[in-house]
Amino acid sequence: MSDVERVIHALHLRGSIRVPGDKSTSHRALMLSALASGQSTITGLSPGDDVGATSAILQQLGAREERDEDVVLFTGPEGGLRATINSLDCGNSGTTMRLMSGLVSTVPGTHELVGDESLSARPMDRVAVPLALMGVSVHGHGPSVTPPLSILSPERLRGIEYHVPVVSSQVKSAILLAGLTASGATTVTEELRTRATTETMLRAAGVTVQSDNVGDGRRVTLSPGRPRRHDWHVPGDPSQAAFFAVLGAIHRDATLEVLSVEASPERVGYVGVLQRMGADVALFERGQFHVLHSRSSSLSATEVFAREIPSVDEVPVLAVAACAASGVSAFRDMGELRLKESDRFEGSLSIARSLGANAWSEGDDFFVEGLGSAEKFLDFTINAGLDHRIVMASAVAGCAGNGCTIAGASTVSSSYPHFFRDLALLSE
Ligand code: S3P
Repeated sequence: MSDVERVIHALHLRGSIRVPGDKSTSHRALMLSALASGQSTITGLSPGDDVGATSAILQQLGAREERDEDVVLFTGPEGGLRATINSLDCGNSGTTMRLMSGLVSTVPGTHELVGDESLSARPMDRVAVPLALMGVSVHGHGPSVTPPLSILSPERLRGIEYHVPVVSSQVKSAILLAGLTASGATTVTEELRTRATTETMLRAAGVTVQSDNVGDGRRVTLSPGRPRRHDWHVPGDPSQAAFFAVLGAIHRDATLEVLSVEASPERVGYVGVLQRMGADVALFERGQFHVLHSRSSSLSATEVFAREIPSVDEVPVLAVAACAASGVSAFRDMGELRLKESDRFEGSLSIARSLGANAWSEGDDFFVEGLGSAEKFLDFTINAGLDHRIVMASAVAGCAGNGCTIAGASTVSSSYPHFFRDLALLSE
């Protein structure tokens, strides 16, 4: 794929698509299969580079991957995973590095985790601190413990009770994975419920996990145990569906459908935000998963709180929706956006300004004064800076608006290698 992508305005957008398999479910399906003894099967695995990095690392630790058409056969060694002297490359993937820190904590020995330029600037203290309490030593650079990470895993870990001080499913998941081989139970509490993917999948693999809602948060207790092999079915990724939800809503002539989407409440907060803005966007249950519909709409500004979208992954594309709305939208408590694959706080402002909208910030809040319609968007150029979601949010703006040029577009392959092909398929 070319690293500079030119997106042009689509006259009409029509049709149904399937987005890649959910990235979160895919990472965990591989990890739990690698920890189990015997062969698991995975259908719908994300084809992105991030999930590829997780698979490659697990194979370095002794798991085996085979393919049977669209099914991935993933086998964990009977005697368990083994440490390797080779470094483990997490690429661009924060989920790989944070969850893998927890997973390798259960594999006695030394492990080196490295990442690309973007990942090497992201804080890992959020996993290093609780893992240290469990008896694991995690070394990185500086006070925020940036990669490369050197992890020394002991023969035996301690179970802990830990309150996660940031809103992060990655941190919760790293601790739960480490807890699998601890002596005694591990309890994690979170003040705001984040995606329950790890807990749900651990349970499906036969591990005892108790989970209780406490106010807006959750208390999860895991009893040590080895996951059992399982047949995993990965649903479509709701965070990828978000790009098409916004695209359909802000485009002048669109009727779009995204099939087989995972729709747990912690993942689809963006649908409520768009509906509040007046978007003709809805989720319908179909079989085991959901279908997302999105149609051309006239949008008004709204106030978006980070707690509505716990991972804040969908905020950059919601900022594009705010550019097409009439009035000033407020995005509140968005500090976590600065710590993603790129500084998405600045990135969201930068996209809005490039489109010709007025955008400004105050502390951790930012504001966008919409242009009233995507037809008023300027043709713009942006550098995506190793951030797949900035590529896709920009492409949505260009496709519904008046085109755009994206430098660094190939980084989209970290989660959605066929994104531009799917966008072209919908464009008439
Ligand atoms: C993920 C959690 C989120 C999200 C990431 C995937 C996961 O990060 O941004 O893309 O699979 O657990 P945080 O948990 O740090 O918010």
